[in-house]
Amino acid sequence: MVSKKIAVLPGDGIGPEVCRQAVKVLEAVAERFHHHFDLSSHPVGACAIDATGNPLPDETLAACRNADAVLLGAIGDPKYDHNPSAKVRPEQGLLRLRKELGLFANIRPVVAYDVLLAHSPLKRERIEGTDMLIFRELTGGIYFGEKGRTADGEVAYDHCTYSRPEIARIAHLAFQAAAGRRQHLTLVDKANVLETSRLWREVVREMATQYPEVTVDYLFVDNAAMQVILNPTQFDVILTENMFGDIISDEASVIAGSMGLLPSASIGAQVALFEPIHGSYPQAKGKGIANPIAAILSAAMLLAHLELHEEAALVREAVDEALNNGILTQELNHSAPYTTEEVGNYIAFWVADSREKQWN
Ligand code: IPM
Ligand code: MN
Repeated sequence: MVSKKIAVLPGDGIGPEVCRQAVKVLEAVAERFHHHFDLSSHPVGACAIDATGNPLPDETLAACRNADAVLLGAIGDPKYDHNPSAKVRPEQGLLRLRKELGLFANIRPVVAYDVLLAHSPLKRERIEGTDMLIFRELTGGIYFGEKGRTADGEVAYDHCTYSRPEIARIAHLAFQAAAGRRQHLTLVDKANVLETSRLWREVVREMATQYPEVTVDYLFVDNAAMQVILNPTQFDVILTENMFGDIISDEASVIAGSMGLLPSASIGAQVALFEPIHGSYPQAKGKGIANPIAAILSAAMLLAHLELHEEAALVREAVDEALNNGILTQELNHSAPYTTEEVGNYIAFWVADSREKQWN
């Protein structure tokens, strides 16, 4: 029996409803393995601004620091999207949280599930067998550089900076992951134009000698954007900076057939955070149509991070069971869709007493 403290930050839009399903699955794991998970919920994003004026209240940050792991739903609200110059924004909550917790590596697995191949707009023969792991740098680059306007407001700037240690710490993680997989690392950059990219290349090229078993490729991001769609099975581990990783991973989600399937782990020196790569999808809020699988697979990554590997494997097995039996929300099951809650219940029941009890 283990005892773990998990801070849950449901956030905005569909965040709370998909988080609720992931929490249900974590409770099923606790029941099945006789663990104790202390799950507490805290506001972040637009809902936190509404409640406190602050997208990352001190209480939420303290709860995250104090937890063994953090599970986050989604952040964002259309009322801010329509007003991009709003000074206080939901996204600031997430960006500050990443920075405060030192979450420098965001890991996003992308796989093409056999049963879902027909759901991708891409041709089956191109995507079949895709299994890539994207390492996106998360606390540097243009997201966090100095930004501003000149006095007359006519010129705006966002500085992109990277230091050698910032690159090296995530590059080590990516090399280690590649060494344990198919020994292939692709650095995605824009080294033909950007000085920061040239530093990324330098650091990675030097580091490669420490990982002789890993083959390293270098791709410019524009070409990489094309290759991800054209021939995704060529990739094993992709390593890239913050903004390129944001863009490439949304693009790669098309391979899986739905954004609602892709989980992520953000890790750093202290506590780690787990969240779907999808956004708050406000149009779907409260309708019971949001896919909870990305949140549930994020919970599986959380379990693995806490060294609960058997538990994580069981959750992934339960998800496979849902995929194989078509227990899926509308974007993946047009003819007889299940609701967010039904998908969550199916997976949680399967985890609680797999194979034995009948689900109804
Ligand atoms: C993501 C999101 C965030 C990002 C936004 C909400 C700030 O798109 O996690 O990919 O750009 O990092
Ligand atoms: Mn994104």
